[in-house]
Amino acid sequence: MGAEAVLELADSLVFTATGKHLNDLQRMILKDVWQRQTYREIARRLRYTEGHIKDVASQLWQTLSQVLDERVTKSNSLTVLERYLQKNHDKRSLQLEVSSPTQPAEIPRLLGREAAIAQLNRLIDQGQRAIVIQGEGGIGKTTLAQQYLEHPAFELSLELLMAKETANITPAEQVVEEWLRQDFQVEPGQDFGVTLERLKRQLRTQRVGILIDNLEPALDAQGRFWAEHSRYGDLLRILCDPKGKTVTLLTSRDRLCEPGVTVTHYRLPGLSLDTWKQFWEQHRITCSAENLMAMHRAYGGNAKAMNILGGAISGDFEGDGDAYWQENRADPLMALDLKNLVNSQVVRLQALDEDAYRLFYRLGCYRYQDVPRIPTEGLRALMWDVDPARHHQV
Ligand SMILES: Nc1ncnc2c1ncn2[C@@H]1O[C@H](COP(=O)(O)OP(=O)(O)OP(=O)(O)O)[C@@H](O)[C@H]1O
Ligand SMILES: [Mg+2]
Repeated sequence: MGAEAVLELADSLVFTATGKHLNDLQRMILKDVWQRQTYREIARRLRYTEGHIKDVASQLWQTLSQVLDERVTKSNSLTVLERYLQKNHDKRSLQLEVSSPTQPAEIPRLLGREAAIAQLNRLIDQGQRAIVIQGEGGIGKTTLAQQYLEHPAFELSLELLMAKETANITPAEQVVEEWLRQDFQVEPGQDFGVTLERLKRQLRTQRVGILIDNLEPALDAQGRFWAEHSRYGDLLRILCDPKGKTVTLLTSRDRLCEPGVTVTHYRLPGLSLDTWKQFWEQHRITCSAENLMAMHRAYGGNAKAMNILGGAISGDFEGDGDAYWQENRADPLMALDLKNLVNSQVVRLQALDEDAYRLFYRLGCYRYQDVPRIPTEGLRALMWDVDPARHHQV
């Protein structure tokens, strides 16, 4: 059976579930998966991180599992879709089935972020031009920022995704030149100062929404740009221009403390228990209130954890949240993707600040199940070998 026919089937199924067609990346991932490529190979070929490819793929498997009402995974996706296509070889009956007259199961991308959006609105109304949405990995920074900037009030939106590795970050000069040429049809200047002035003029005439995503690899332990990326500081100063009409949202796991740059930080909290409940209901996951609360607490309301768990419970436990938790409560990081998420933060912590890294491990003596809050004195006691003058910074 032709891969194109299967791809079109996947597209119409995803459209049924989400109201959106497959994008280019999703299509390329499906094709590569069906040619038995690993996520790592796909990531390398398409120049994305392996984690991102896994995220996009796992969302796809989740959506397809939901529409087809059977578990779809990387390894069985082609077989399941081919079987479905064969069963519905009469194209007309297939169309009837996929565009079923009942309401499509609309799964909104963004749940429970009303307060966050209101807070961003407030900050912007107060005259803030650049806001760092800060929070741990997977909490939902990028999703919130993208959704916010999709608002039609923005005449143009620009997106810059920072490379995960400091060494691979595109120099600020190149980014600005590209924006000027491609998005404003303006020739950049000979030197960076002139180029920035040209950008500044553009940003005073149009309401532009800018997303600078994943800022932390560009920052050192003090939250300043690494010397080789100091020109991002110059760019930010332009983006903060009080006469500009632009709104810049930056997402970062760490704080930005660049001298002379007056950005505001918004600490994004985890999703509320009610939001997790809403997500569980949408995905038809059954779970006792007690276990749902335990899971929500174990993962701090993390949005990525919620999505991964949702996928695992729907896929492997037929939507039975209690059975899942019974099996996994002893090791909440069992799901591999969650391990990777936590590891990446811990590795960065170790690289930036050994004392903070040691403190993090020592915190293990307080079990999260038993100790809801750790007093400051408790933290200080764990830093017995650190100069007290550094305690606050650590
Ligand atoms: N409000 C939300 N409702 C439902 N799902 C969400 C929400 N926010 C984020 N997600 C999902 O959670 C996952 C992680 O979100 P996102 O990539 O925005 O996190 P992040 O904070 O930017 O993480 P990182 O620090 O790794 O970049 C994504 O799969 C996203 O679709
Ligand atoms: Mg992100």
